[in-house]
Amino acid sequence: RAKLGVLVSGGGSNLQALLDACARADFPAEVALVVSNVPTAFALQRARDAGVEARVLDHKGFGARADFERALGDLLVDAGVEWVCLAGFMRLLGADFLGRFAGRVLNIHPSLLPAFPGLHAQRQALDKGVKVAGCTVHFVDAGMDTGPIIAQAAVPVLSGDDEAALSARILKEEHRLYPLVVKLAVTGGVRLEGGRVVSPLGPAVGDSS
Ligand code: GAR
Repeated sequence: RAKLGVLVSGGGSNLQALLDACARADFPAEVALVVSNVPTAFALQRARDAGVEARVLDHKGFGARADFERALGDLLVDAGVEWVCLAGFMRLLGADFLGRFAGRVLNIHPSLLPAFPGLHAQRQALDKGVKVAGCTVHFVDAGMDTGPIIAQAAVPVLSGDDEAALSARILKEEHRLYPLVVKLAVTGGVRLEGGRVVSPLGPAVGDSS
């Protein structure tokens, strides 16, 4: 089973979806380590409740971003992590870190990228008045939610939606999509080749429908 390192900053519902998937005997991955840059993140409790090692690495304790990222990479490598999953991890990662896990860092974002990167994606979508929203799982590059897209799931924006209602509708899809893509990625069903996503098993792989 592929060893995942999951990086979190908050509530960790996507972490929970990955933990639940990994609890199934036929799932091809396990969570080896959870790291939060926020000491109070509820995600840490979720990891411990699942019997998974959880560590805090507070970026505020580091002078330079590169030092934080080196320590983060060391923690993951020492735990035998092969794939890194960002799950509500609210920090950018630089080229040095990404180079240590080349083609093996995934992120989930609550919009249909490239629309609405960054913070408060759901509010951005409501402010623009879009009628379709959703989530995206992509390979991570050094930009903000800019990496090559692997899969997306769409949800309607309904009249009367506020940020909480839309976020909840999207989150439900996040919890479905992320484990699906992790499974595909660790089994070679999708991979990053020359900066592009390729699906050796055929074009339907990664479809969210
Ligand atoms: C999720 O909606 C995730 O897509 C988003 O943060 C939330 C974390 O929730 N990530 C980003 O916005 C990344 N740019 P969770 O902690 O309950 O998984």
